[in-house]
Amino acid sequence: MSRTIIVSNRLPTKVNRTDEGLEFQPSEGGLATGLGSIYRSENNVWVGWPGLFVDDPTERQTVTKRLRANSMAPVFLTEDEIRDYYEGFSNSTLWPTFHYFTQFATYDDEQWQAYVTVNEKFCEAVLALAGPEDTIWVQDYQLLLLPELLRRARPQATIGFFLHIPFPSYELLRVLPWGADLVRGMLGADLIGFHTFGYMRHFLSAVSRMLGLSIQNGQIETPTRTVLVDAFPMGIDYQRYELAAASPEVEVHQRAYREALRDVRVVLSIDRLDYTKGIAQRLLAFEQLLRQYPEWREQVSLLMVVVPSRDQVAQYAALKEEIDELVGRINAQYRTISWNPIHYFYRSFPFDELVSLYRLADVALVTPIRDGMNLVAKEFIASKTHQRGVLILSERAGAAVELSDALLINPTSTNQLVEALNEALLMPEDEQITRMSNMQDLVRQYDVFAWTRLFMDRLAHSKVKQHTMTTN
Ligand code: F6P
Repeated sequence: MSRTIIVSNRLPTKVNRTDEGLEFQPSEGGLATGLGSIYRSENNVWVGWPGLFVDDPTERQTVTKRLRANSMAPVFLTEDEIRDYYEGFSNSTLWPTFHYFTQFATYDDEQWQAYVTVNEKFCEAVLALAGPEDTIWVQDYQLLLLPELLRRARPQATIGFFLHIPFPSYELLRVLPWGADLVRGMLGADLIGFHTFGYMRHFLSAVSRMLGLSIQNGQIETPTRTVLVDAFPMGIDYQRYELAAASPEVEVHQRAYREALRDVRVVLSIDRLDYTKGIAQRLLAFEQLLRQYPEWREQVSLLMVVVPSRDQVAQYAALKEEIDELVGRINAQYRTISWNPIHYFYRSFPFDELVSLYRLADVALVTPIRDGMNLVAKEFIASKTHQRGVLILSERAGAAVELSDALLINPTSTNQLVEALNEALLMPEDEQITRMSNMQDLVRQYDVFAWTRLFMDRLAHSKVKQHTMTTN
């Protein structure tokens, strides 16, 4: 019987070494939830890095055994590989380039080599598990070469690929000396998915201009196969947020926060630490709001959660310092004995507390400079069962294509952010309810399970079509 193999850089469980021994911490991330129904069923498996370095062969065996019991298979990476493949090529070359931050990109042949080697390592790990007819679904920019590597070894396999970040314009991609290799790597798949049609169009343009392949009706004709491409906007586990929103635990947290903040209005900002998220620009906009509209002083606070991420990469460490400095400066200038302009948290929050924050917020400020999708916007919407609250959303987040009832702004314009904040804080309740319920209808329908189903059905269908073409 054929099986499905999910492959991503990280496994949906992180393994930690503690004084008590190994600790296995399941991820609550959207991808883990969405694909949970696939990799845990039948004989399926998820292949990826377990998040810790393991040199000792006995310890490797223990980790492998524990993960295999939970339908996962580890790819062990060395410290050098994480430095050059993950922090290096993936997050210092591809990430900034694909998010239009070329000024932060580095071009290093050794790191490229490490990227090739680690993609080959993932390929071996998958091949050790995959039969010739299996379905393999590869995730994201860390593994762009993997579809083609797998295709060479398993010509009959059904291979899908999904990119979770933007695919940039050809003009950006051509800056990379390895641009054509990356596109060729992706073309090993039968179906390539993106969050938006815009990213898909960029990819098709790169395929025709870099590789000279012909494209008909959105299908790519390679000398041996047809490759399908399409947009599959990713969703969240809507019901999980909706149910949590009604739970007594969330109610208790929310009441405690409300008491602590008294009747001050709340603008919420939640992100992973990343320069693509526009966190510093958001702080400057909040500062300008207090300057330009002094009536909001002591009436509104910014609650800013920044989740630590990739802090070994220089740009991330620098951004952390910039945020610390800005928060310190703004708070020092405007705070009063009884009011704090910015409540800043540099850590992640447990799920229930996160939902309480979403429910508490009058406004969510989701203003990335560039973002593949942005699920925070969707989580905020799902948590607002009372439908009060306003979403301010960057037009350069993939989510903006679907969420046209948000207040859409250009994130590089501080003025637009300030005006949107003022408008959101003044928005009448009936308008908030209309906008929120429109967005809820959409986010509820296209949840992460629908996303998984749509992609997997399309992948199965593409293979049947391919098979019919070759047998005719
Ligand atoms: O947005 C792309 C992505 O890879 C997500 O899938 C992931 O949750 C996030 O970036 C953080 O990735 P990491 O901590 O593995 O670098």
